[in-house]
Amino acid sequence: MSSLSSQDQLKAMAAEKAVQLIEPQSWVGVGTGSTVNFFIDALAQSGLPIKGTVSSSEASSQRLKALGVPVFPIEQVPVLDVYVDGADEIDHHGFMIKGGGAALTREKILAAQANSFICIVDQSKWVQTLGVFPLPLEIIPMAAPKLIERFKAMGAQASVRLKDGHPLITDNQQHILDVRGLQITDPLAFETQVNQWPGVITVGVFANQRASVCLLASPEGVKTIEF
Ligand code: 5RP
Repeated sequence: MSSLSSQDQLKAMAAEKAVQLIEPQSWVGVGTGSTVNFFIDALAQSGLPIKGTVSSSEASSQRLKALGVPVFPIEQVPVLDVYVDGADEIDHHGFMIKGGGAALTREKILAAQANSFICIVDQSKWVQTLGVFPLPLEIIPMAAPKLIERFKAMGAQASVRLKDGHPLITDNQQHILDVRGLQITDPLAFETQVNQWPGVITVGVFANQRASVCLLASPEGVKTIEF
């Protein structure tokens, strides 16, 4: 662990704590991102006997399978005992911004099918008000111009996320819009409003699917915050 950056050490601490909270024989939903990668590694190393996992992305599925952790399609697992994922921001209600890793749609589907959501983050993700991190939305590509206009009318700036100079293509073959300049003071209302805009597949505000517990890692240790 000493070769890791200090932020990665915190991510690993939160991830290891999450493994300790998983009951044997659970169905475990697995999110996406660098913090979740530490969780996957720790879960595999723990030898904890679980029923299996359901994954929110091709990247997490590959990592789980490479480490010998069984991955099942969501259709075969109607209820997840627990869902473990990171976040780009989380507030004191457990409301989050997610989607920095472009996996938000499958993440929200899994979160909605889980009995509890354990959010694992380092201290940099803890915020008073959501919106400093650019808000991701997964969208139908042809809707981009109108959606950019709608956000402009709200005083925010939206742009299509690029990879190697081209629009990034998600695991669902769609595009991501990143929105800067928002202050999301009422995440539940905001999520409901933007979800209704034509062409929006998923908005990266997780208010209806908020965290049940946040494992917040700082140099002082991992704090468990229940919502
Ligand atoms: C992916 C996500 C991630 O949970 C979020 O981007 C945090 O990632 P990281 O752990 O790499 O900071 O929502 O879509």
